[in-house]
Amino acid sequence: MFNTETRIGVCGAGAMGAGIAQVAAQAGHNVVVLDRDDAALARGRESLQKGAAALLKRGKIDAAEADALVSRVSWTLDVGALAGAGLVIEAIVEDAAIKHALYVQLESVMDSSAVLATNTSSLSVSSLAEGLARPPQFLGLHFFNPAPIMKLVEVVSGVDSDPAIAAAARALMQRWGKVAVNARDVPGFIVNRVARPFYGEGWRALEEDAGDAATLDFLYRDLAGFRMGPLELGDLIGHDINSAAAQSIFDAYDGRTRFAPSPAQARLVAAGRLGRKSGRGVYDYSDDAEKPAPNFVETDRQSAPGMLAVGPDTAALQSLLKAAGIQFEMKQHIEPGFAEIDNVVVGFCDGRSAGALAAAFQ
Ligand SMILES: NC(=O)c1ccc[n+]([C@@H]2O[C@H](COP(=O)([O-])OP(=O)(O)OC[C@H]3O[C@@H](n4cnc5c(N)ncnc54)[C@H](O)[C@@H]3O)[C@@H](O)[C@H]2O)c1
Repeated sequence: MFNTETRIGVCGAGAMGAGIAQVAAQAGHNVVVLDRDDAALARGRESLQKGAAALLKRGKIDAAEADALVSRVSWTLDVGALAGAGLVIEAIVEDAAIKHALYVQLESVMDSSAVLATNTSSLSVSSLAEGLARPPQFLGLHFFNPAPIMKLVEVVSGVDSDPAIAAAARALMQRWGKVAVNARDVPGFIVNRVARPFYGEGWRALEEDAGDAATLDFLYRDLAGFRMGPLELGDLIGHDINSAAAQSIFDAYDGRTRFAPSPAQARLVAAGRLGRKSGRGVYDYSDDAEKPAPNFVETDRQSAPGMLAVGPDTAALQSLLKAAGIQFEMKQHIEPGFAEIDNVVVGFCDGRSAGALAAAFQ
């Protein structure tokens, strides 16, 4: 259904549209990018040029290919220029009414066999398809920011999306070097749904004074292995965007508490502390601001505890310890769920608070 000859239309020359245009052009397609704003088109073009220059600098492409990449993309204010596109990916403002108005215009110029996809993050694909002339030819292609770097694309089928078109779109995304996954049309799809508790717990821990922001981000980042902690990531994304997404997913799931937005984050937004883009969010980004340090006690190897002892029936734990090269001994009297380090008893997390665990131990 799609091949390199397929002309790709992209609506919106913003952060996502410009990135998606680069991805398609890198895969060899001719691309037309539509925006309603000339300045946005100029910014999009500049972003594509920077993207091509970065690929050239990293040795991924040569100078001729960098020029060809840029010249494969044209920029327009005229919807009519999207005639002849086999696939149009819409990445305009996240507003259902504005998207709908554009779809009506698009349908009047697109071929009857062409496919229309939305990059929406939070709107229902099925409800965006309502009123379209050809709902089976409409689906979600949800790229992540920045599109040229982030590998994942969620292929979101609405109620009426044609499974054969979803399969073809998925294969196309794979040819574009992406990891494409099928997602159902549920609020947040996959990623934004599973990410909500990540942010939410970070904020709740801050609100409940479990630690200061720098310490909590440090725990997520340096100890749990996330690329960034939830608070600093919110500063990067913008708390206005992040808390609006939290609110919309919370509402869409009828107020399930695990999706509850954070009042502390809402206060930041109300105060205009949106994150890096406004110079201040959870952290202060002004030039003279001191970077807060995480609050923890570093153990040095010399004073590290001596001997670890585990109880019987801990085969899985013992094999992990062996694999990590950690010495231990086995003591019959140690109860399940506990270990000893020198003379200190350590209880394993099992969902109870440390206080409840200690009480159960006594
Ligand atoms: N920013 C992200 O991290 C991200 C990630 C995934 C998906 N998305 C989704 O992608 C879409 C675009 O987001 P973005 O961050 O690129 O927004 P953006 O604000 O950077 O860009 C949107 C562009 O659309 C243009 N536009 C608005 N109405 C238009 C119309 N009627 N016709 C043509 N152009 C129009 C605007 O001029 C602007 O240039 C949204 O649906 C958003 O939910 C965003």
